[in-house]
Amino acid sequence: MERILGRVLVIVPTYNERENLPAIAGRVRAAVPDAHLLIVDDGSPDGTGEIADELAAGDEHVHVLHRPGKQGLGAAYIAGFRHGLSEGFDVLVEMDADGSHRPEQLPLLLDALGEGADLVIGSRWVPGGKVVDWPVSRELLSRGANTYARLVLGVPVRDTTAGFRAYRSSTLEKIGLDDVESEGYCFQVDLTLRTIRHGLRVAEVPITFVDRTVGASKMSRAIVAEALWRVTLWGVIGLPRRIRRAR
Ligand code: GDD
Ligand code: MN
Repeated sequence: MERILGRVLVIVPTYNERENLPAIAGRVRAAVPDAHLLIVDDGSPDGTGEIADELAAGDEHVHVLHRPGKQGLGAAYIAGFRHGLSEGFDVLVEMDADGSHRPEQLPLLLDALGEGADLVIGSRWVPGGKVVDWPVSRELLSRGANTYARLVLGVPVRDTTAGFRAYRSSTLEKIGLDDVESEGYCFQVDLTLRTIRHGLRVAEVPITFVDRTVGASKMSRAIVAEALWRVTLWGVIGLPRRIRRAR
């Protein structure tokens, strides 16, 4: 499948993931040996960036992008996407460093992309999707955020906030990255919406999301607040278009 899709780059943003990174990098390399891995580190105080450099020094398929400070998940992915596009990769994958997204499920995402999707989302909230060991509070937040986004934006996707996904490079080129302002996790909703509004095909495949066992989530009130106001704003801006379509 990878041969049909072309060159695949798996982008993993990191902030204080020193205990998780070596294992996840090894699992990615084993699961999709032809793919390349790009670690985007925001100057992690715990030394994750140095570990990433060591991994890259020992493996031609591992690359590192260092950014000066914590600038948010969205900004890290945009930097990673730009790098991947300029290096001529055909497929750009998003994946967390903490083990919540299982590298062994990467072929599922790539297969669905090969079957014709422009964006494949590894989804927790479609039949067959699972969440393991997540606190009830996080599950409620994710389900609530997804329900709100689906209603307010009118998109048919069950897991718009998912961070395990595969884009064709052509998708990112078509939707454009220059005017993306989302900094935090609402970046995921933002790009999903842009993909749909460009008439491109989104597929969801069920995944098993496993809560991290090491380190801490970077989810914060500020991230939730940004998601809430932006999604609401996108919903309001998109209203005339939805009304036109309903007529
Ligand atoms: N470079 C960089 N900069 N990396 C970051 C930043 C940042 O500002 N913030 C978070 N990360 C990295 C983490 O180190 C991790 O590898 C990944 O992004 C996800 O962060 P977590 O803090 O583990 O996220 P989560 O488990 O709470 O949230 C997951 O679910 C969200 C909601 O469904 C993620 O999969 C999110 O992408 C998703 O939106
Ligand atoms: Mn996580």
